[in-house]
Amino acid sequence: MPGLITMDDLTNEEIISILDDAERLLPVARGEVYLPLLQGRILGNLFFEPSTRTRMSFETAMKRLGGDVVNLGDVKTSSVVKGETLFDTIQMVDGYTDIIAMRHPRQGAAQYACDSADVPILNGGDGAGHHPTQTMLDLFTIRQSHGTLEGLNVVLAGDLRYGRTVHSLSHALVRFGCNVTFASPESLRMPEEIVADLNAHGAEVVETDDLLSQINNADVIYMTRIQKERFPDEDEYAKVAGAYKLEASDLDEAKAEMIIMHPLPRVDEIHPSVDSTRHARYFEQAFNGVVARMALMCWLLGVDVPEDINEKGVAL
Ligand code: NCD
Repeated sequence: MPGLITMDDLTNEEIISILDDAERLLPVARGEVYLPLLQGRILGNLFFEPSTRTRMSFETAMKRLGGDVVNLGDVKTSSVVKGETLFDTIQMVDGYTDIIAMRHPRQGAAQYACDSADVPILNGGDGAGHHPTQTMLDLFTIRQSHGTLEGLNVVLAGDLRYGRTVHSLSHALVRFGCNVTFASPESLRMPEEIVADLNAHGAEVVETDDLLSQINNADVIYMTRIQKERFPDEDEYAKVAGAYKLEASDLDEAKAEMIIMHPLPRVDEIHPSVDSTRHARYFEQAFNGVVARMALMCWLLGVDVPEDINEKGVAL
């Protein structure tokens, strides 16, 4: 079954078409228009790791489009604690649902699920691997602010080693002709195989540990949380915790249109003083998760998003 496991599963044309669909769905996501494009469909939410935004925005997206959702719920109260394998869980949920959103601590788990499922699987994060639905909302947010993706200077900062959001995003940005700069502590640099893949796509990646020196030239600064749960031990985490703390006063010389993004949750890498600056875009970004996931589910289920949403839907 086709699914969305990494950004390689989408061509550039498909990405643009899904972003266009997402844009048209904004009034539906805002609750201004009711358009039950996915009526009668059931989404299975299988989150084997904590999630607030990804799980809730998938659920909101499905319900706003007239569909329904079943949840695995807390892993601790599911049969996973009795030793059920991922294969068996998927075999079953596959029969209950029309499409599955899945998050799992193991890298590669989403591909494994996709190989064994008859319904489409959307990878909502597989360990330190990929997070392509997040990339779609990130691309949507960047295009919404800058009108284009091409030629932008994008700084990805923080935990580039374990951060799955930046693994998927960097790949997509390079395919759309962005200039990417990686800012991280030495021990959290982007994995070599990902840098090699970006180079193979013609990118000239810049790597630094000095985030502040990159601010003035940036069109987008994408901050990430240090992924504490992926560190082999607490001491290693303690060495890099709090490595970057962006404050409003750091942004005095930034370009007026520069935006600051973050997949959230944040810990201390963006100070609340940044929230009220013109640059902060992370809460809009989180909202965009609804339209991006609406458009992705329509695409995977073969449902066309109409051009004239306001005429097709019911005004609320
Ligand atoms: C991210 C994730 O789970 O990878 N969160 C999200 O989906 N918005 C980022 C993170 O947990 O730091």
